[in-house]
Amino acid sequence: MNLTYIFDHLWMDYIIQNPSVLNIYNLFIDEGEKVVNDHIAFRTLDFPGINIDVLAKPFIELGYSPMGEYVFNDKHLIAKHYELPGDSLQPRVFISQLILSDCSPFIQKTFREAFEMTDRNKLSTDELIFSGTLFSSLSYDVYNLLREESEYAAWFYVFGFRANHFTVSVNSLKKFNNILKVNELLKKNGFSLNSSGGEIKGTTSDLLQQSSTIADIVTIKFIEGSYEIPSCYYEFAQRYPDSNGNLYSGFIAKSADKIFESTNFYKKD
Ligand code: NI
Repeated sequence: MNLTYIFDHLWMDYIIQNPSVLNIYNLFIDEGEKVVNDHIAFRTLDFPGINIDVLAKPFIELGYSPMGEYVFNDKHLIAKHYELPGDSLQPRVFISQLILSDCSPFIQKTFREAFEMTDRNKLSTDELIFSGTLFSSLSYDVYNLLREESEYAAWFYVFGFRANHFTVSVNSLKKFNNILKVNELLKKNGFSLNSSGGEIKGTTSDLLQQSSTIADIVTIKFIEGSYEIPSCYYEFAQRYPDSNGNLYSGFIAKSADKIFESTNFYKKD
């Protein structure tokens, strides 16, 4: 595997999971922009066979280095981010995991059973990051029970291993090189933004401002029938230079905490 293969494969799956993404991407292209990815994000659980370090492996093997670590106490998550040193055109990789020991016995049991039944061969390959849900069949009742406790757990139950979001680097845009302009363009074209904590997360003094769409609704086949649920979202990030003049490259936990909510359940109007 090389990075082009990995990111192309993730992108093709991602634009199927979130049909709005390609429309937004094309909107930028039609405006004469070139879209560079600031980061992509994965979600997982803290089981040793599938945790952050396991998902990071293919990226580490291709030269990525671990950079920041983040804690989200209220959501029972931790995250790490990785970068390819010396290549600002390759996206950062942001991987979070649910801390199962902080979760209810129901969440622990649901995931432990599926994890134990999953073929070890599937878990040990570099293809794990593309492999989708751990579950061979999905229950809408289980999805809703998970959701009552953790939207993150419910999302991971259905969608599993794939890009949860890609992120447009606002710094790389020419005409729309400001997050306010990006948000205006999106809203003018009918896209809904995640407004939890305000449309723009972070301030210029945080050195990172982010916004995101709310996840598209897709139809999923559950054992009880087909239901519409939120899938993946598209994010936008503008970075600012620190006192040494270097663009800030990390993440801001309190902003990311709100961005996670882009996949919260909602119903189409
Ligand atoms: Ni993100």
